[in-house]
Amino acid sequence: MTTTADEWGLHEGHFWLRDRHPDRPVRFDEATGAWNVYGHPEATRILGDPKTFSSDTARTLPPEMREPTEGNLVQLDPPVHGKLRKLVSHAFTPKVVADLEPRIAELTGELLDAVDGRDRFELVTDLAYPLPVIVIAELLGVPADDRHLFKQWVDQIFDGSRQFSLRDRSEEQERDLAHVREQLGHLTDYLGEHAAERRRRPRADLLTKLVEAEVDGERLTRTEVVNFANLLLLAGHITTTMLLGNTVLCLDRHPGWFARVREDRSAIPAVIEESLRFFSPFATVARVTCADVELGGEHVPEGELLMVWVAAANRDPRQFADPDVFDPTRDPNPHLAFGRGIHFCLGAPLARLEGRVALGMLLDRFPHLRADPDEPPRFLPSPNLTGVRSLPLLTSSG
Ligand code: HEM
Repeated sequence: MTTTADEWGLHEGHFWLRDRHPDRPVRFDEATGAWNVYGHPEATRILGDPKTFSSDTARTLPPEMREPTEGNLVQLDPPVHGKLRKLVSHAFTPKVVADLEPRIAELTGELLDAVDGRDRFELVTDLAYPLPVIVIAELLGVPADDRHLFKQWVDQIFDGSRQFSLRDRSEEQERDLAHVREQLGHLTDYLGEHAAERRRRPRADLLTKLVEAEVDGERLTRTEVVNFANLLLLAGHITTTMLLGNTVLCLDRHPGWFARVREDRSAIPAVIEESLRFFSPFATVARVTCADVELGGEHVPEGELLMVWVAAANRDPRQFADPDVFDPTRDPNPHLAFGRGIHFCLGAPLARLEGRVALGMLLDRFPHLRADPDEPPRFLPSPNLTGVRSLPLLTSSG
């Protein structure tokens, strides 16, 4: 699969998908002004030490580029991070999420009914995009029928293929950033209207929980509510769409495993974990150093931006034997696709459940499913994401 990375036009920066390994686990990048971290032990250390490696990365930006980050969990540090995370964490525990299984199965069934009888369909449009978006919209309490709106905004947020650079003051980067800000503005305005409506008329949904929640005796501000909800909406769908698409692609490229999961559905969870390692949807997370540190043999001064390439760390031969081999029998499989430590993905149990249910039902319904050899998959252009944007599938054995 890795040899086809060029043929598929995967982002040129995604060297780990081309069986290449960096000569050093940590390296300063002159072009972006940030430190790239590629090693698994180094990434694990960073994600496990929020005191030294802060998530408040906005501080590395010039003031005119900063966006309000209040309420945006991924950019908060302790103690505020823990207080806000607690407000919704109970909604995402494996036990609570398990209760969503019937609804996820029902939605998957409806989406698959719509393509039943066809000899081909497109996985992302027909299943992998709508399923997680509808689930997160229902949890939050915004109309799932508005998903064409979110899609339009979110697609544009992740449409750029250039890596952001702290050093780039070009008009091009300014334009890209302004465009992203504009799309984020649409999303936050939209969520702000729904949040205001929940203040007037509470319902049993996460948005109501956020507008009613108190931290240290105070209600969250509008910006906090909107940023929090925005993160859930964003993180809650594009990543799971990629997980589903990438997993089907991994299976298609590894026919032995495709045959095995067709025979035995209990192999699906391990296949999903290995797909997360092998083809990590969220390629990178960012941190900033709060002190001078020695990291991977480099001296990194305080106040520097670190790009922690979890997707590359997931191919580190110091951690994974034969890292470029897709092997769902790895046990343990300590991949970092969901992060690590206090920011460990809140939605991981939901993403895993959606992946398991959808994949199982897809195989039940279409026992001969395979990628269309005449129409290769297309991928998202962002350097920070690795995920199929379209994956045409054939339903007959041909
Ligand atoms: C395959 C699917 C997913 C992947 C690969 C993924 C990946 C990640 C990663 C790498 C982080 C850590 C960010 C950091 O350390 O800076 C994260 C955090 C987060 N994810 Fe996910 N995610 C997925 C699905 C979801 C879903 C379905 C939801 C929502 C319901 C969600 C909500 C969140 C939230 C709220 C955080 C922030 C947690 C915190 O900062 O405490 N994610 N995710």
